[in-house]
Amino acid sequence: MDKPKVVLGVSGGIAAYKACELLRRLSESGHDVRVVPTASALHFVGAATWSALSGNPVSTEVWDDVHEVPHVRIGQHADLVVVAPATADILAKAAHGLADDLLTNTLLTARCPVLFAPAMHTEMWEHPATQENVATLRRRGAIVIEPAVGRLTGVDTGKGRLPDPAEIFEVCRRVLARGVTEPDLEGRHVVVSAGGTREPLDPVRFLGNRSSGKQGYALARTAAARGARVTLIAANTGMPDPAGVDVVQVGTAVQLREAVLKAAPDADAVVMAAAVADFRPATYAAGKIKKRDGQEPEPIVLVRNPDILAEISTDRARPGQVVVGFAAETDDVLANGRKKLERKGCDLLVVNEVGERKTFGSEENEAVVLGADGTETPVPYGPKEALAETVWDLVARRLGSNV
Ligand code: CTP
Repeated sequence: MDKPKVVLGVSGGIAAYKACELLRRLSESGHDVRVVPTASALHFVGAATWSALSGNPVSTEVWDDVHEVPHVRIGQHADLVVVAPATADILAKAAHGLADDLLTNTLLTARCPVLFAPAMHTEMWEHPATQENVATLRRRGAIVIEPAVGRLTGVDTGKGRLPDPAEIFEVCRRVLARGVTEPDLEGRHVVVSAGGTREPLDPVRFLGNRSSGKQGYALARTAAARGARVTLIAANTGMPDPAGVDVVQVGTAVQLREAVLKAAPDADAVVMAAAVADFRPATYAAGKIKKRDGQEPEPIVLVRNPDILAEISTDRARPGQVVVGFAAETDDVLANGRKKLERKGCDLLVVNEVGERKTFGSEENEAVVLGADGTETPVPYGPKEALAETVWDLVARRLGSNV
């Protein structure tokens, strides 16, 4: 089988050096990568580096190697074009259909999915000109992932950083796996909760659970790759932020509830993949609880946490909003799942069987997605991303019928 053909467009920003890492990941995972830098990108990383890492010739202009590489062919034959970093300038050129170098020509001839990973100063990103260009590109079906927040060139911090190359690579993989050019969650805002809450007893101890957050992160990544704006509410996951996703870190169930309720009014879908503690200690000891010689420990008194899924399902923040829950069951999986779906009032419930080695922390999952309309969608044992894709298929179908 031919290797998938990826065009890596690199435009002239300091983050160009990070594209070397993206290129390495793409090449090492069996993609045929053709790097098309702009002339200004070469001020940051030279052609020799791109050529050595990709094993392919590198040119910036349509006039180079004309006999071998007609400027239209690179775009026509690509399975994916990813521009990382994408400067304000390349976004403007792409939005307006300019074609004054090899990369802009490639963008016009490509009929495959096109992904932009912007990186620039916060002011440039927020400027109405850039925002309108991004909106134009998204409307036409390109995927433009949101820049990350953090340290920018020099002393500045803010939104505008290139997301972690490993995370851009994950988005590329998802887009290639789907192989369609229509990002079906384009223009949608989705909220995903992930991880497990921790309910503190004292400054050093907590009651927690074994949820790793991997399923929630897979949901966030796949939604971003399908064009959605994603808010990921992460509880104690310790994982790097997925590319193009706004991450809100929380610790306890009460904090998770606050973050979900804040994000939900603007969301088309809310997916509660987090393992939320049903109970929390009734009291919090300000100092560490000490053992005392000859004394039995005090029992821990628990109180109920709010049921966030039930709350957002019953009291929809927005008409037509799709709410998805997860259920971990050990026995009578489907029957218990059906009862839980009704009790919680959500539209979809992903039911998986848990046990010692099943689900928690693993890369794989097996589940049945129950619909409030009586549907049952089995998802065979496989990567958590495959389950995530099925969840978004079902969500997109419901959102489609809500418009
Ligand atoms: N959930 C929630 N708030 C809680 C507890 C759970 O929003 N306080 C959400 C989870 O994010 C998940 C779903 O509810 O999407 C199912 O949680 P689960 O713990 O399996 O269900 P419970 O209602 O706790 O039922 P049971 O204890 O009977 O298993």
